[in-house]
Amino acid sequence: MSVGSRLNTLLEQAPVVLPSLLLCDFGNLEREIDRLEKADTKALHLDIMDGDFVPNLTYGLPIVKALRRLTDLPLDTHLMISRPERYIDAFHQAGADMITVHIEATDDPSAVLRQIRRLGICAGIALNPKTPLSAVEHLVTDCDLVLMMSVEPGFGGQTFDPTVLKKLKMARELFGDRTVLEVDGGVNEETITECTRAGAQLMVAGSAIFGRPDYKSAMEVLRTKALQA
Ligand code: DX5
Ligand code: ZN
Repeated sequence: MSVGSRLNTLLEQAPVVLPSLLLCDFGNLEREIDRLEKADTKALHLDIMDGDFVPNLTYGLPIVKALRRLTDLPLDTHLMISRPERYIDAFHQAGADMITVHIEATDDPSAVLRQIRRLGICAGIALNPKTPLSAVEHLVTDCDLVLMMSVEPGFGGQTFDPTVLKKLKMARELFGDRTVLEVDGGVNEETITECTRAGAQLMVAGSAIFGRPDYKSAMEVLRTKALQA
């Protein structure tokens, strides 16, 4: 299936909760993926950090390749790295279906988004909480997805910043229905309903899933709450 239709398939199931692979057990990745698939997960969110753009270092291409071998689920790859243009082709080769770069991390976001789109995969632009929506207005035709950070990027388990809700509402008005809106950081059973109400279609959750003993019930709670909007 083409990736474009994979994104559409995902959107047909919106609101979708995407587990973020940051707080999972990387020592048992196959078991973690199996548990997530059994929890009816529709896509995985991969938090790639370089220790430069964000003050944390996580994983890179070998883990993305390993995940590609382990699952057919769409890999939503969140690049929290400086000058991401250097690695777009490599992450595509490794198996990324969706690549999101931070507008704060590159000199020419439009060029990076076009580079991603030329590969036939979903091109996303991410905004830190303090970055105004006006920073992406000129990119609306270059991107398929806007990722709104509700925490400062770098770590899981942080507290949700509700100012993202206003940004989501404004983005929905600005971009209409042609751009996918995703929210990331501190999304849990208390905050997810407001995110859907504000216009988010994809919700990333880390500690609200991996901090729970049973992934299936955690995902069900989040999905139920997301549908209450
Ligand atoms: C933060 C990452 C998020 C984070 C989500 O930089 O982009 O995806 O891991 O984790 P929680 O849901 O625990 O905030
Ligand atoms: Zn993320």
